[in-house]
Amino acid sequence: MTSSKDPYYITTPIYYVNAKPHIGTAYTTIAADTLARFMRLDGRPVKFLTGTDEHGQKVEQSALDKGISPQDFVDDMSQNFHALSDLFGFTNDGFIRTTDAHHKKSAQALWEMLVANEAVYESAYEGWYSVRDEAFYNEEELVGGKAPTGTDVTWVKEPCFFFKLSKFEDQLLDLYEKNPDFIAPKSRLNEVKSFVEGGLNDLCISRSTFKWGIPVPGHEGHIMYVWVDALSNYLSYLGFPDTKSKDYQEFWPQAHHILGKDIIRFHGVYWPALLMAAGLPLPKRLFAHGWWTNDGQKISKSLGNTIDPFDLVGEFGSDQVRYFLLSAATFGRDSDFSRDALIQKINTNLANDFGNLVQRVLSFIHKHCGAQLPTPGDFTESDKTIMTVAATLKDRLRPHAESQALHKMCEEIWQVIGDANRYVDQEEPWALRKTDTDRMRTVLYALADAIKNIAICAQCIVPKAATAILDQLTVDPQNRDLLHTETRLEPGLDLPKPEGVFPRIQA
Ligand code: MSP
Repeated sequence: MTSSKDPYYITTPIYYVNAKPHIGTAYTTIAADTLARFMRLDGRPVKFLTGTDEHGQKVEQSALDKGISPQDFVDDMSQNFHALSDLFGFTNDGFIRTTDAHHKKSAQALWEMLVANEAVYESAYEGWYSVRDEAFYNEEELVGGKAPTGTDVTWVKEPCFFFKLSKFEDQLLDLYEKNPDFIAPKSRLNEVKSFVEGGLNDLCISRSTFKWGIPVPGHEGHIMYVWVDALSNYLSYLGFPDTKSKDYQEFWPQAHHILGKDIIRFHGVYWPALLMAAGLPLPKRLFAHGWWTNDGQKISKSLGNTIDPFDLVGEFGSDQVRYFLLSAATFGRDSDFSRDALIQKINTNLANDFGNLVQRVLSFIHKHCGAQLPTPGDFTESDKTIMTVAATLKDRLRPHAESQALHKMCEEIWQVIGDANRYVDQEEPWALRKTDTDRMRTVLYALADAIKNIAICAQCIVPKAATAILDQLTVDPQNRDLLHTETRLEPGLDLPKPEGVFPRIQA
C-alpha cells in the first residue's frame, strides 16, 4: 500500500465559553477527531487542535452577569470543553485557550505584521454590532432590525483600528477562482464569493469600550476584535510567530479548518485576507458543516431544546452518539436530530449489523473451534472476495477522508459489514458444523480476518467498540493501522471469551 505521508493539521473552531458544550459544538469536534484518527491510522503525522475562545464582549457580559471576574469565569467554563474531550475520548493534540500567554503573544505578533505592512489605520466605527455573533453588520444586512442571524444588534460608536479589507477583494476572488477546493462544500464557496463580489468594507479590528481582550500593541485603551484574536489561535499552536519552527513549517501549509456554516464569512473572507495582508501562507482548506436541528426546530437556549452531549452519552454511549452524528447527516448539509432516529440507528446499524456480525462469529469460534482462531483450508472465490473487500476498504475510505465526506466513510464501512453478513448467511457456518468442519473453519477464518480489517478502519468512527473488537481478536495494538489490513490474522491464536460491543436499546 502506498500511503501519503503528508502532514495533516486539523482544527475545530475554538468554542465560546459563555455557554456549555451542546450537540452542535460536540459535532464539530467529533468530525475533526474522526479525520485526525483516520489520518493517523494512515501513517500521516497529525496535529489536531481544539480549544476555547475566551475574550470578547459576550464572554465579559456573561461573567459580569454571574458577578465574577472574566478570568475566573473563563477558567471555570473552559473546563466544560476539556470534559467534553474526555467524554468522547477526543484525540486532540492541543487545547488552546485564547487567554494563554503564548497565544496573546502570537495574536499581537500578527497585529504587528499587519501594521508593518500598512494594512491597518486608525479611525472610528459607527454602526451595528451583535454581541451574540460578535460581528459588525451594515444597515443593509439587517432584517427587521435584527442581525441576519436573528440576534439583537446595538449601535456602536467608538474609536478603533480598521483593517483594509476592501483592498483584498480581487486577491480573494482570485484565490477562490484558482483554488476551487479552498472552501467546501460548493454552496459555501458560492456564498463567500458572492459576499466578496458584493463589495467589502474595511473591517473594524479593535474595540475600545470594554477591556476583556488582548491589548493592541502600543495602544492602551484598545483591545483586539475578538475574531482577529480567535482566528490567530490556529497559528499560535504551531509556535507562531516563530515561523522557522518545525511545527509551523511542517503543519501550517497543511491546515484544514473544520467549522460550522454560520462562521464561514470569518474563515473564508476575513482570515485569508488577514493572512495575505500579513504576508503569511494560507490554510489548505476550509470545510463548513451544516446545522443540527432538534425534532425539526432550531436549537436554542431560549426554546429550551438544547441537547446536552453529557446526558446523551450517559444514556447511549459515546460511540453511539458519534456514529449517529457522523452517519445521519450528509457532511456539509443541515440535519435533524431526533431520539427515535438515534435509537433506530443504534439498533439497526450498530447492534444488528455490526455488533451481531462480530458476536455471532466470535461466539461460534469460541464454542466450536476451542476458542482458537481456526486454520483455514483452501479459499473459495467467495472467501477471497469478502477478505479482499475488507482489506481494500481503506482505499475506498481515503478519498472520502480527503474530501471530508464523513457520511460516505460510514457508508463504505457499513457496506462491507453488510457484505460480511450476507456472506455468513450464504455460507451458513452453523450448518457446515454438521456437514463439513474443514469448510466451516475456513469460512470462520475468512470472517474473522474481514472483521479485523473492518474494525481497523472503523476505529476512526466508533473508536471504543472497534478497539474492543480488535482486543477480542488479540490484534497487537502496534498493528492496528491501515497498513495492517494487508496482513492476515495468524491461525491458532487463542481468543478470549467474546463480549457484545453494541447493546440494543429498548425504545
Ligand atoms: N468562537 C467562535 C469560533 C471562533 S474560531 C476561530 C464560535 N464559537 S461557538 O461556540 O459559537 O460555535 C462553535 C461551533 O459550533 C461552530 O462551528 C458552530 O457552527 C457549531 N455549532 C453551534 N451550534 C450548532 C448546531 N446547532 N449544529 C451544528 N453546529 C453548530 O463560533
